[in-house]
Amino acid sequence: MKICVIGSGYVGLVAGTCFAESGNDVICVDVDEQKIEGLKRGIIPIYEPGLKEMVLRNREEGRLNFTTDLDAAVKESLVCFIAVGTPPGADGSADLQYVLAVARNIGRSMESFKIIVDKSTVPVGTADKVRAAVTEELALRGTHIEFDVVSNPEFLKEGAAIDDFMKPDRVVIGTDNVRTAEIMKELYSAFMRKSNRMLVMDIRSAEMTKYAANAMLATRITFMNQVANLCEVMGADVMAVREGIGSDSRIGYDFLFPGVGYGGSCFPKDVKALVRTADECNYDFVLLKAVEEANERQKRILSDKIERRLGQGGAKPLAGKSFAVWGLSFKPRTDDMREAPSLTIINRLLELGATVQAHDPEALNEAKKHFGDRIGYHMNQYEPLKGADGLVIITEWNEYRNPDFDRIKKLLVNPVIFDGRNLYQPERMREIGFEYLPIGRNGAAVCEME
Ligand code: UDX
Repeated sequence: MKICVIGSGYVGLVAGTCFAESGNDVICVDVDEQKIEGLKRGIIPIYEPGLKEMVLRNREEGRLNFTTDLDAAVKESLVCFIAVGTPPGADGSADLQYVLAVARNIGRSMESFKIIVDKSTVPVGTADKVRAAVTEELALRGTHIEFDVVSNPEFLKEGAAIDDFMKPDRVVIGTDNVRTAEIMKELYSAFMRKSNRMLVMDIRSAEMTKYAANAMLATRITFMNQVANLCEVMGADVMAVREGIGSDSRIGYDFLFPGVGYGGSCFPKDVKALVRTADECNYDFVLLKAVEEANERQKRILSDKIERRLGQGGAKPLAGKSFAVWGLSFKPRTDDMREAPSLTIINRLLELGATVQAHDPEALNEAKKHFGDRIGYHMNQYEPLKGADGLVIITEWNEYRNPDFDRIKKLLVNPVIFDGRNLYQPERMREIGFEYLPIGRNGAAVCEME
């Protein structure tokens, strides 16, 4: 099938490449000339395991092309995916200007029947706006060409994007047209197995599904974070509690790891946008508002703990202290720092007067854009520990799971580890001589009730 994917960011690039991998002729479009030139030469603008190899292979085999020429790409394609960004506007609602601009461009370029697919995460009702924008452009041209608009939300996770796309739990297709549903089913048939499902539904339900899924997951994490905080003051162990509740098949074990708050390009933005959409309909989504607030507080948990343990009062209670930070990206296997808890935590440590030396396997360049020369950057994970007053773990990269603890102890001034991701066993850490402060585990001894 001939398809074009407009917007070669995270979702667009992964989707386009995977569609090419399953035998389709794909043109990826972007307005950013530098990005397209780079992609043509095999330079991938994001870090995503397996993506580069797949891009190169499909380019070589002629199924994957990159261009800034939207007009030609639309003319050649039956299915046009819109995968441009929907950043949060000033009021938290999703900014649709890029999506609607693409819709208008499609309307200006199309010469035959098109299936226009919203792949970007867009609020309920956007498909109607896309339809209206295309219709308006066709009317301006004085032509009538048939087209259909589909909502096909993307559920991929950064760091596992290729796998998520090639082996999805489900594919959601929102359309009111039987013929279009069949074409979309054919396009996705390569990725369907016995264990997953293709769900065809009305357009608004498909649009809502994406927001409901992300809001549910953000709520689940936040719930567990708050349970962890309570475990800490009550002297319970949140990891035991996770086992205890996860064994209930209605609850399950996934997405119940407490930490320093959720981040990334999706959860914070989508929770905000759904709250905003609800407000616009005069529905007060109190639960999600609380989730947002609780998550902001969770990002302060680690710096508060450090201040309580090592602070010396005054305006700059951590003056003279230095910390080694492990992990800057919002989660492992990505260099993405959008809404990363590390931003809040490190800024707070600096505000309290501390100095910070950081390591991250992939995100150092991204981090430099945020922190400039206000912190130190290290390629080797042990280097920042030299002379530090404690180690602060923010992201659970695999390389932090079994480190050389003897080396850590020798390098640190104080053998203290503030672990925002519960990577180690508290008993073992005590045995080998560390003061270990995880999230929601045997914390009663170090954390006072407030
Ligand atoms: C998410 C959704 O999972 C995906 O379906 C959607 O398409 C986009 O948003 P992503 O942002 O890549 O994907 O990250 P994800 O792996 O879901 O993690 C989101 C955040 O939750 C991270 O900050 C992570 O650290 C945090 N998290 C996740 C926890 O704190 N605890 C957990 O148990 C799981």
